Amino acid sequence: MALTYEEYYGEAFSRLKQVEQTLLDLIHDYPTHSYPNSVGPILYCKSRIKQPDSMIRKLEQRGLPTDGETALSHMHDTVGVRIVCSFLDDVDKIASWLKTRPEFEVIETKDYISHPKPNGYRSLHLVLSFPSPSNQKLMAEIQLRTIAIDFWAALEHQMKYKKNVEHEKIIWGELKRCADEIASVDVSMQTLQELILNDQWN
Ligand code: GTP
Ligand code: MG
Repeated sequence: MALTYEEYYGEAFSRLKQVEQTLLDLIHDYPTHSYPNSVGPILYCKSRIKQPDSMIRKLEQRGLPTDGETALSHMHDTVGVRIVCSFLDDVDKIASWLKTRPEFEVIETKDYISHPKPNGYRSLHLVLSFPSPSNQKLMAEIQLRTIAIDFWAALEHQMKYKKNVEHEKIIWGELKRCADEIASVDVSMQTLQELILNDQWN
């Protein structure tokens, strides 16, 4: 039978839940008064603590011991939060704001928006380190992306886990084409929003 979260992460599990909640509360309180547009900067936010089974698989793939302690010290996405935004510049603004927060330290930024992956994946990832009473720090990963990319990433993720798909090569090629079209649409949407907001006459 699969291990429960408590069995796998031990006493650290309650702290993992605290970290997850701290991030959700923080994001909920993100100041939006400087956003005059009716489309809010954050459309939705999802979070999870990585399931023991999936963490064990990831550790195995990396040739590491599969216990919870190793997971906590070597993996940075035990706690994961995804922030889905309307526009590209919301992603940058929210990331900059997160970097000023005193609750954690941003120890790594992976900017797959400026530097997309070869498959077309575009998101901004922040790896956070939370101080903790014991000397073991807790890490968390925040992913920021636009809603258009989120839609793409969900389908691409499904494809990754499918085996023996017919027309596989064509599908990968089409996914890449869609990712590039989405990137171009995201830039246009950003520009249109600026034009609409800066229209002085209405
Ligand atoms: P892992 O991918 O988690 O092993 O760590 P990493 O150090 O390679 O980090 P990376 O920033 O590449 O990816 C972390 C997470 O981002 C993944 O677990 C996914 O949730 C997401 N992600 C990264 N690349 C892709 C991608 O090509 N497609 C999709 N759909 N999601 C991706
Ligand atoms: Mg990866």
